[in-house]
Amino acid sequence: MCGIVGAVAERNITAILIEGLKRLEYRGYDSAGIAVIDNDGQLSRLRRSGKVAELDQAQTLEPLSGRLGIAHTRWATHGAPCERNAHPHFSSHELAVVHNGIIENHQALREQLKDLGYLFTSDTDTEVIVHLLHHKLHELGDLATALKAAVQELHGAYGLAVISASQPDRLLAARSGSPLVIGLGLGENFLASDPLALRQVTDRFVYLEEGDIAEIRRESVRIWDLNGQDVQRETVQHQDGAEAADKGEYRHFMLKEIHEQPKVVQRTLEGRLGDAQVLVEAFGPQAAELFAKVRNVQIIACGTSYHAGMVARYWLEGLTGIPCQVEVASEFRYRKVAVQPDSLFVTISQSGETADTLAALRNAKGAGYLASLAICNVATSSLVRESDLTLLTNAGPEIGVASTKAFTTQLVGLLLLTLALGQVHKRLAPGLEAELVEELRRLPSRLGEVLSMEKAVEKVAELFAEKHHTLFLGRGVQYPVAMEGALKLKEISYIHAEAYPAGELKHGPLALVDSDMPVVTVAPNDELLEKLKSNLQEVRARGGQLIVFAAEQAGLEDGEGTHVVSMPHCHEVLAPIYYTLPLQLLSYYVAVLRGTDVDQPRNLAKSVTVE
Ligand code: F6R
Repeated sequence: MCGIVGAVAERNITAILIEGLKRLEYRGYDSAGIAVIDNDGQLSRLRRSGKVAELDQAQTLEPLSGRLGIAHTRWATHGAPCERNAHPHFSSHELAVVHNGIIENHQALREQLKDLGYLFTSDTDTEVIVHLLHHKLHELGDLATALKAAVQELHGAYGLAVISASQPDRLLAARSGSPLVIGLGLGENFLASDPLALRQVTDRFVYLEEGDIAEIRRESVRIWDLNGQDVQRETVQHQDGAEAADKGEYRHFMLKEIHEQPKVVQRTLEGRLGDAQVLVEAFGPQAAELFAKVRNVQIIACGTSYHAGMVARYWLEGLTGIPCQVEVASEFRYRKVAVQPDSLFVTISQSGETADTLAALRNAKGAGYLASLAICNVATSSLVRESDLTLLTNAGPEIGVASTKAFTTQLVGLLLLTLALGQVHKRLAPGLEAELVEELRRLPSRLGEVLSMEKAVEKVAELFAEKHHTLFLGRGVQYPVAMEGALKLKEISYIHAEAYPAGELKHGPLALVDSDMPVVTVAPNDELLEKLKSNLQEVRARGGQLIVFAAEQAGLEDGEGTHVVSMPHCHEVLAPIYYTLPLQLLSYYVAVLRGTDVDQPRNLAKSVTVE
């Protein structure tokens, strides 16, 4: 973890590598490094803990120059975040390796390599790879052959980039459980863990598949598959994505992405709505036939995507009567699961590369599910490639680590799924599909209206700046919305935030409520409103400060200890999408007031490709 960039060219590639790392900064990291084969044929390296800007500055003081190089941003897993543990790792000043992923048998390999005389200078699992490869290189002679032999002994996940001073015309790569993509240039070629890193130099990409090993030279690329066979992988031309690296008029990517929601929700809907119904084919040509067989839905996801899944359970069971279970992938993957007959296995993921979600999907294969459906934002991701059906959320690249537009577009995708299943099974109330299709068409402009409340939310954020703890309450389908609000606040402002179903308050958490504990609530005008109001009374009676995002018709007003932000009217079914926006803005403005690193909060990575 977390970002890899590599290049082989006729020109000096240092600036390309550093720029690539900058473009991957959004994924979160704690140290960075670069290694090149310099003009004397020697391996040179620079590493810094902290930001890529520090590495860049060090590089201007001690310039590195070379035509072959690799670079990395590290998010610590094995060993503290410090310069000694930063990649690239060397073996005998002959080989350099950068690695994303985790080597599970690193301890055993470390002992074997120590017995062979190798000295370790870091606490990382990665260092065993470079020494193992060095050992194989001296046994076998050729770098690609040595890499093929070395990876046989690795257990775990890896995306690897390798260079050798003894074979300075090639960059080697290996993929197993951690994505890698080759960027094709003219007389120069590149490698990265995410194509975004290479958009500055090319728009033509070749995605490596699981088990692939690649040898990348200036004029050629050779790929071997899992079985060691020479293979050709498709070249993909990317049209968009260039805008992603630009914050435009906004101070942070997160704010830009919050404001993009009307536009990207529109994109999620494009081509998926008929006159009065959802187009089932939007889920793939065989979707209608498959959906007709579905009697149960199992949803798996992590973090924010899991919250989207929780909202979908209320929709699926409430609107179609089709049973639905939702579970976090990290638990599901290690549990013995009793698979319900005719279950559709649905994964939700922004990146499509989350290790736990991917592992859950892989475990689900052969476990008796009817089919798998990925609701995902990245068309080229592993999750999409490995699922039977896909619904792309089309939110565009999300750079802020805290997910915003990915979540709302996932919700839209999940509502489309609910309506498609309801339609195929004729389970929807008469007229409901046409009514919701109409509401969905209006959704982008209505979300624009919600965003125009920004100033009011910014004001409310002032109530939080000095606080240490917060409760978020919601009832029914708004409970997962409250969970998502709490997750956003803790991620970027580092304020401890807990979400509860409002009815649970008196079963324990009420003990925490006092004047120092702000309580945030979403209160649309739904059938649980009166019950929620009683819960809010319980908070006020204990001196708790209430911040309520409430429907105009909810009958809630500002008063002593109660701050009400009025929300425009919305359809009850779509309320989770509307009420998410003010909670995103609230976390954003609290974080700005507290001066945290909004787009790259501490300790977090954008795409969690390790367990
Ligand atoms: C929170 C956040 C994470 C992700 C989670 C899953 O703001 O972004 O909780 O939602 O790591 O990631 P994906 O959706 O890429 O599988």
